[in-house]
Amino acid sequence: MKPKVVRECAELHSLVKSLHRQGLRIGLVPTMGALHAGHISLVKESLKNSDWTIVSIFVNPTQFAPGEDFEKYPRTLESDLALLEAENEKENIIVFTPSADEMYPKNFYSYVDVAGVAQPLEGAFRPTHFRGVATVVLKLFNMTRADVAFFGQKDFQQVQVIRQFVRDLNVPIEIRMSPIKREEDGLAMSSRNRYLSSEARQRALCLSDSLNRAKEMILSQNCRSRSAVEAEIRKILEHPKHSIDYAVIVDPETLLPRPGDEIVLPVAILLAVRVDDTRLIDNLVID
Ligand code: PAF
Repeated sequence: MKPKVVRECAELHSLVKSLHRQGLRIGLVPTMGALHAGHISLVKESLKNSDWTIVSIFVNPTQFAPGEDFEKYPRTLESDLALLEAENEKENIIVFTPSADEMYPKNFYSYVDVAGVAQPLEGAFRPTHFRGVATVVLKLFNMTRADVAFFGQKDFQQVQVIRQFVRDLNVPIEIRMSPIKREEDGLAMSSRNRYLSSEARQRALCLSDSLNRAKEMILSQNCRSRSAVEAEIRKILEHPKHSIDYAVIVDPETLLPRPGDEIVLPVAILLAVRVDDTRLIDNLVID
């Protein structure tokens, strides 16, 4: 059965009001569409943990800076709906796909600005990105009145930013993070992988290879020198057609390097690499 598609906030509002009146638990999976198995694993989690699942599909303009890929970001609503149809056995999936005018009407002036975890890494390379993410995600939380929201670990810093504003602003929602879904050869699933030529896609395996190598150094060889492991990661990522925005080992809570060179677990290893023109991110948390 095709999921119900809702385009307007007013319609969504009356639907969620009626679900809440019946005491039903609502799960939210926020997406920008171009759904892949990573998104579907979040939908499956939501279906397991909620009575109704709302999948939002909205390519959010405020999280793209000028010159980024907002215009070319894949918009594939028909195939997204077909993928969701396969999960909709119980007919309890709603797809919310608002227009930009619906989300950002004229005279829209309020934004969510997160400091701390939003500042390093993606925050340094894409200074307006998390403001756009936090704003749209809070709007989706308010519009769907979801009890629980599901995000993928691939955007590890994004999840930390969302957890931060949920805590700071007392937003009544539970945040769950699911493991990264990978292709068989290790490439982290991403809607942006479709930008890669087959040759670039092959080279892009250096991201997951470098994470595996770092894990091996830290856990099997007991190497506890951050600079040595980071140097090895960079060696694996380096290529004339790659440019590394960051490849760092940080404290998973603060997303900052711990003082000194010694690796003290837990750590998060976070990567952002431009492979040709495609910016890819990947990460690994070692507990
Ligand atoms: O992770 C994404 O796809 C987006 O950043 C999100 C959370 C849907 C907000 O636009």
